[in-house]
Amino acid sequence: MKIISHRGASGYAPENTLKAFRLAVEMGSRDFEFDVHQTKDGVLVVHHDYDLKPTAGKEARIAGLDYAELKKFNVAAHFKRDKMVQHVPRLEEVIDIIGPESDWLNFEVKNDNNVYPGIEEKLLGFLKSRPGLFEKAVVSSFDHGTLKRFRELSLRLKLAYLGHGLSTMLLLPAIRKAKAVGAVSFHMALRIAFKLNVKRIKKAGFQVCIYTVNRKKDALRMKEIGADGIFTNHPDILGKWTLKG
Ligand code: G3P
Ligand code: CA
Repeated sequence: MKIISHRGASGYAPENTLKAFRLAVEMGSRDFEFDVHQTKDGVLVVHHDYDLKPTAGKEARIAGLDYAELKKFNVAAHFKRDKMVQHVPRLEEVIDIIGPESDWLNFEVKNDNNVYPGIEEKLLGFLKSRPGLFEKAVVSSFDHGTLKRFRELSLRLKLAYLGHGLSTMLLLPAIRKAKAVGAVSFHMALRIAFKLNVKRIKKAGFQVCIYTVNRKKDALRMKEIGADGIFTNHPDILGKWTLKG
């Protein structure tokens, strides 16, 4: 089972910052997840939310800022354990920190209602610009239109269906949508990660990865029911519980 650093080692450092990714690498992570946005002047950046309120405590939207402006915000302001100034990183900086030793990189593209027109072409261009990056990349999005546009642009790109507001009842239609877009992986919330659901998804031919798993008992249950990966904010602790393999 893959132990995927979720927004870096975000249990110990401000999420989606270079510090969080550096720490995850030091902890031995080889599988990573991060959230991708695009600034007004077209720079791909890594941050969870569309605005800076949750991390910097300021009312400002990434879509409305050039990167030079975005860089001025301290996105560690929310993090109680360590408020040392951290900036929203450019995607390429995150990839540089993660380095070539990584195995599996999940680029979660935040693009509800196509708020970042052209982000698909831009990300695809970036993935192809670095040796080996395209092969280890898996692109996911809560926005199905975004996944469809990625598929139209590339038949080879690995896509992951990302379940939003899923329930057991809605699982079969979701599996159909995942198939329609040619996804290889299916990512869903711990809330509905039951044995039968995981079995159904795997039977349909997908890898199953579960978010966000921060407790040992949940992690062990995920392994038991056959999850292929778990997204966690605590990659060090989870790695110790003989979860790998
Ligand atoms: O990609 C899995 C998970 O990160 C999706 O939810 O809200 O944490 O981006 P969220
Ligand atoms: Ca995410």
